[in-house]
Amino acid sequence: MFEIGIIIILAYLLGSIPSGLIIGKTFYGVDIREHGSGNLGGTNTFRTLGVKAGLIVSIADILKGTLATALPLGFLFDSELHPLIAGVFAVIGHMYPIFASFRGGKAVATSGGVLLMYEPLMFLVMLIIFFICLYITKYVSLSSILGGIAAFIYALIDGDVPLIIVVSILVIFVIYRHRANIKRILNKTEPKIKWL
Ligand code: G3P
Repeated sequence: MFEIGIIIILAYLLGSIPSGLIIGKTFYGVDIREHGSGNLGGTNTFRTLGVKAGLIVSIADILKGTLATALPLGFLFDSELHPLIAGVFAVIGHMYPIFASFRGGKAVATSGGVLLMYEPLMFLVMLIIFFICLYITKYVSLSSILGGIAAFIYALIDGDVPLIIVVSILVIFVIYRHRANIKRILNKTEPKIKWL
């Protein structure tokens, strides 16, 4: 029980590492939450600081989910805790980071990292759907939501009950954190990407 508590706290702390803030402030002297959409995530880093910073932050945010999900799997601990639960706490940390005044990201990259560890094929499917939607719509936010819904459908087909439950929770997180984007998409003020 003690070990489960430690893993959950570590997963939350790992998710709380504000990669966008660290890269932005250290190398560009910029808090990306004061620019663009105000989100502490890869997309807003791309938008505000360019491709290199955006890629680094996106990969770091994915890795937070991947490493947190690996925590109960015997590398550091050998715990009864289901790895997906550790992943959920990393995503909560990413959205509400203790190291960044609880103003974090929109759950997409870190959720992807959780799935990358637990079900890599699912991550791949999600990524492909994301890029197809991005190519067609040019909306990162909408593509993120549709990628999440694709992951949910994959989980239903797969039939793994913990996966279905956790992916449902992650998709709810993603939709909730994108509510401003959804409003902007509906009133046609959401910015489109220009590079695809
Ligand atoms: O992963 C976040 C993305 O879906 C939307 O980001 O900055 O456009 O709100 P942003």
